[in-house]
Amino acid sequence: MSLQTLSSNTLTQAKSTKGPSQVKNRTPQPRRVERAEIPVIKDGILSTIGNTPLIKLSKVFPDAHFQLFAKLEMFNPGGSIKDRPALNMLTEAFHRGDIRRGSTIIESSSGNLGVGLAQACAVLGLDFICVIDPKTNQQNINILKAYGAKVELVAEPDPVTGDFLPARIARVKSLLASIPHSFWPNQYANLNNARAHHQTMHEIVTALNGKLDYLFSATGSCGTLRGCAEYIRSHNLNTKIIAVDAKGSVIFGDKRGKRLIPGHGAARVPELFQPGLEDVCIHVSDWDCIVGCRRLLSQEAILAGGSSGGVISAIEKKAQEIPVGATCAAILCDRGERYLETIYSQSWVEKHFSCC
Ligand SMILES: Cc1ncc(COP(=O)(O)O)c(C=O)c1O
Repeated sequence: MSLQTLSSNTLTQAKSTKGPSQVKNRTPQPRRVERAEIPVIKDGILSTIGNTPLIKLSKVFPDAHFQLFAKLEMFNPGGSIKDRPALNMLTEAFHRGDIRRGSTIIESSSGNLGVGLAQACAVLGLDFICVIDPKTNQQNINILKAYGAKVELVAEPDPVTGDFLPARIARVKSLLASIPHSFWPNQYANLNNARAHHQTMHEIVTALNGKLDYLFSATGSCGTLRGCAEYIRSHNLNTKIIAVDAKGSVIFGDKRGKRLIPGHGAARVPELFQPGLEDVCIHVSDWDCIVGCRRLLSQEAILAGGSSGGVISAIEKKAQEIPVGATCAAILCDRGERYLETIYSQSWVEKHFSCC
């Protein structure tokens, strides 16, 4: 492992609560950062984050008049695209002097970001408290604990709204206030979440020699969407961005509704969202995700997570509008093993969907 060790002299105290590069923000304060404090990730497990394969899918839409490539983010060591922002938000916080070895990272996440942070914290010598709610699946809790994370369960929803999200954020804030040297990455507002995906987009565009007509990207915190959009605009690429959101998610103005499949979608509009990041938004239902996942599995032998199925269904919805010969890329965000009890379980599907 190449994490440089700490110098023993005094360092700037880690700041609690918000990171300086969040969207709505205070003026950054100058801070002294010791070089030896900053981790260098050149070997060890975190060095395997990114540079995921981009493969051509020729079977999922066998009669397609366009080429389709899939960016397999399941190849990241924590199993998802969220390894990228997890590492980037932490290393940037080290750079700013907001955290140091021994700091406590606190984040509300019931899924992939939590796993990515748990893994990165284990390597970087940070404590991690993951704030979850009763809807978090047991497998994810077990993974978090296996990496050494502490899991903080918020058992009751917010009394005013009846939602868990505000209750989880309130718990994050109260933990930050009580734990010295604690830091909240705050993925919904942290620009370093989005910036991690300049690299994601760079990898896709480079692999395709700059020719990409359509990008299909699932949205949650909007980190992927914003990072890819920033890269596309700043490189003057002629790529249309198709945001894929969950039906019942409010990001693009849909009416709030019940959603069963985690990953994509959000119950509030993230600070990272900006109107116009996307050219088009396509909403997909839980059922669309299931159909898309099963199709990826049966046609391409790819066992992917729910949002990947949503992306495949979104491509199908959009297919007629895609010009002949176009090149499309789909970001497939995570692997499917954590969905074996849901999307890939016939009894679960039958229980929740009367249509099959
Ligand atoms: C499986 C999956 N798909 C899509 C997303 C959305 O990505 P982003 O948060 O970058 O918008 C996430 C985010 O956690 C995810 O876990």
